[in-house]
Amino acid sequence: MLNRVSRVALSLVALALIVTACRHGGARQTVDIGTYLGGEAKLVAAEPVFAEHGMVASNSALASAAGAEIMQQGGNAVDAAVATGFALAVTYPFAGNIGGGGFMNIAMADGRTAVIDYREIAPLAATRDMYVDPATGKLTNKSVVGHLASGVPGAVAGMTEALAKYGSLPLAKVMAPAIRLAREGFVVDSALARSLRGNRIVPQFAGKTLFYPNGEPLAAGTRLVQAELARTLETIAAKGAAGFYTGEVADALVAKMQRGGGIITHEDLKRYKAEWRTPIRSTYRGYTLLTMPPASSGGITMTETMNILEQFAPLPRFGSTGYTHLLTEAFRRAFIDRNEKLGDPAFVKVPLDQLTSKTYAKSLAAGIDRTHATKTPAFKVAAEPEHTTHYSVADAKGNVVSTTTTLNGGYGSGVWIPRAGFFMNNEMDDFAAQPGTPNMFGLVQGEANAIVPGKRMLSAMAPTIVLDSEGKVLLVVGAAGGPRIITTTTEVVLNVIEHRMSLADAMRAPRLHHQSLPDTLRYEDGAFSDAVADSLRAMGHSLQRTGGLANANGIMRVNGGWIGVREPRSSGGAVGY
Ligand code: DON
Repeated sequence: MLNRVSRVALSLVALALIVTACRHGGARQTVDIGTYLGGEAKLVAAEPVFAEHGMVASNSALASAAGAEIMQQGGNAVDAAVATGFALAVTYPFAGNIGGGGFMNIAMADGRTAVIDYREIAPLAATRDMYVDPATGKLTNKSVVGHLASGVPGAVAGMTEALAKYGSLPLAKVMAPAIRLAREGFVVDSALARSLRGNRIVPQFAGKTLFYPNGEPLAAGTRLVQAELARTLETIAAKGAAGFYTGEVADALVAKMQRGGGIITHEDLKRYKAEWRTPIRSTYRGYTLLTMPPASSGGITMTETMNILEQFAPLPRFGSTGYTHLLTEAFRRAFIDRNEKLGDPAFVKVPLDQLTSKTYAKSLAAGIDRTHATKTPAFKVAAEPEHTTHYSVADAKGNVVSTTTTLNGGYGSGVWIPRAGFFMNNEMDDFAAQPGTPNMFGLVQGEANAIVPGKRMLSAMAPTIVLDSEGKVLLVVGAAGGPRIITTTTEVVLNVIEHRMSLADAMRAPRLHHQSLPDTLRYEDGAFSDAVADSLRAMGHSLQRTGGLANANGIMRVNGGWIGVREPRSSGGAVGY
């Protein structure tokens, strides 16, 4: 049963930003942030939801309800997270997936902590320069659209593995709500309808028959039944991960790749393995942060940022020139390291201990000029040889799960697997497809993240868990939005533990983003006053007003239960009992 604690009216904010990532040589790839927010274009009330026992906050109220249903049937937070993950693949096809991958961060009430990395990997036939046009030397769009854009999916391996190790219910039981939603259908809401209307990629591929019947996008209010996806989910429910990586589903996937010029083979699928890793454990003013290690950059970059900020006590107030400047300079320094030094730890030596150390942060903090912006140095490549969705889950025992999963771009590569009924990711674009050239998020990355067969592409996903000074869970949070995942997740955490905001206020508060290159501070309306903007410009910051920086879903422990808040800028729902 849901109790709505409060509803806060906010003025509507237009979120019509187009981020333009300039490809080498002038070809341009644009990422519409409105699209990343599920097609929503308004900031609406945050709708914090209170529940005594368990809570799920995700970008689909139906998927959150699937997780809550499983907890009410006796499942724990991991059972609920897996139920929500599979349900998102049905009700939020924009980003929820079985054709993509993600990261899950688990903290059990008995003190066990773990993270599972089910990031996609480059197919065995991938090559370093596969997206560079040999004639022009310029980067093509093939890492973004079409059959070559996909990494080998990890979602099914990751979710089934997490369930086997930390769940308490059988896979078939946990998947039942997702199967029901696919088989019986659900009513298309305005967010899904709007995102289909705005999509230019899906209509080019086989998914158009389902999502664009008679050539028109599904309208809000129609029922979407996904019989092929239901069959695929039933096969997975019966056979486990083998039902995806071998057999009919694998056959359909490989056949589609072969027909369309893709390179994923049966061998790629058979070899895929999710990896258990140790969470990065760091502290910030007495709180403990559990964050995601590589192959995501999320945890290192958040930790480095917060370690730098910890050197300044107390931080200036939210919205002030001083605070905005320090946050920007901390993000800048952490992203410089991220973009140059991080990659899949199976392929590159990641200086994790150094980058997450307080001593290192102290030296970086000492280099911050309190009155002038530092310019980001040009990227030193020569010196070296969307769409996503986050959901948070908490159960009655205090187990929590923070999961981010993605197809990368909205509907991934656009390629839909006939007979199996799902979209493939376009995660290959997260590699530095041409080191030194911006990817679709404008990230300029180096050799550490170059393409190698079998390698995981560097991610920014940052599913995070924050413990209070007694070691009890305080926050479960994360976001979608490429590199803006890192800045938004850090800001939500800071808003709660540094600025003492409620979770609803912390999520609603206007956001900032700086990723070192481009050397621009992006900010949402209301992040600071015009006077502060003038001061920041005078200090040397280049400012760009933008809308909808990232899409977060979070849970906070409060007296007697949990508060869940879904992204106020987008669609979704927090559902508890
Ligand atoms: O792993 C990453 O960092 C990206 N593939 C995430 C993409 C993303 O968040 C897009 N959408 N909102």
